[in-house]
Amino acid sequence: MIDDDRHRWDPRRYAAHARFVADLGQPAVELLAPAAGERILDLGCGDGALTAKLVAAGCTVVGVDASAEMVAAARAAGIDARLMNAEALGFDAEFDAVFSNAALHWMARLDRVLAGVWRALRPGGRFVGECGGRGNLDGLLAGMQPVLARRGIDSRERNPWHCPGAAELQALLVTTGFAVESIARIERPTRLPGELRDWLRTFACAFVFDLDEAARETVFAQIAEAVRPDLCAGAGCWTLDYVRLRFRAERRGYP
Ligand code: BEZ
Repeated sequence: MIDDDRHRWDPRRYAAHARFVADLGQPAVELLAPAAGERILDLGCGDGALTAKLVAAGCTVVGVDASAEMVAAARAAGIDARLMNAEALGFDAEFDAVFSNAALHWMARLDRVLAGVWRALRPGGRFVGECGGRGNLDGLLAGMQPVLARRGIDSRERNPWHCPGAAELQALLVTTGFAVESIARIERPTRLPGELRDWLRTFACAFVFDLDEAARETVFAQIAEAVRPDLCAGAGCWTLDYVRLRFRAERRGYP
């Protein structure tokens, strides 16, 4: 893996500015309906905040994440967390369910991810989760584009977020060997707990990974000014245009 800020997560920053991600994952947990005694894989477990809820429900949970920093944070919280590339999952028919919240949109090769999820599940096991769907953060991205272009940065080329449409996800799941029980597209305008600049520092470093700290701060401030009229209702009152796909599918036959 390339060792630069495109792939690095800061658990302290995440805990300070992104706790809402796990909090808003509760409906996906309810769709999963974890039962005591089940063995569950949490795909993209991050610092384990939501994984801990599955453990509290009496499940045996393995968390995987591609960030060594997040895996260390999850382990410090008592989670069985492992460093793993989601596009090369190393499990074989050993989970009753695979769960994933707010992680799939960071994965470029969803076909490989889904194939690994399928292999990880026992026959009949379920894959339940939520991720960014097509249109996710389009308003923010539209505001970022000209600011980054002035720096010679192609925001489309650097965009690390891969948000499938519902039909696309459905087709990928079916091709992989899942029976899709539901996929809901949910527009979920999301109030940030603080300033947009904190969110950008937490989630948008991939766009500016090669800029020094001062230049990043300038760019983030310029982006905030560009999108303020659309995304900020008053001092510190930012709402981002999140779109979710929430789904439940079951492992069937062979792909
Ligand atoms: C999301 O949860 O949809 C998301 C979060 C941060 C960056 C991009 C997408």
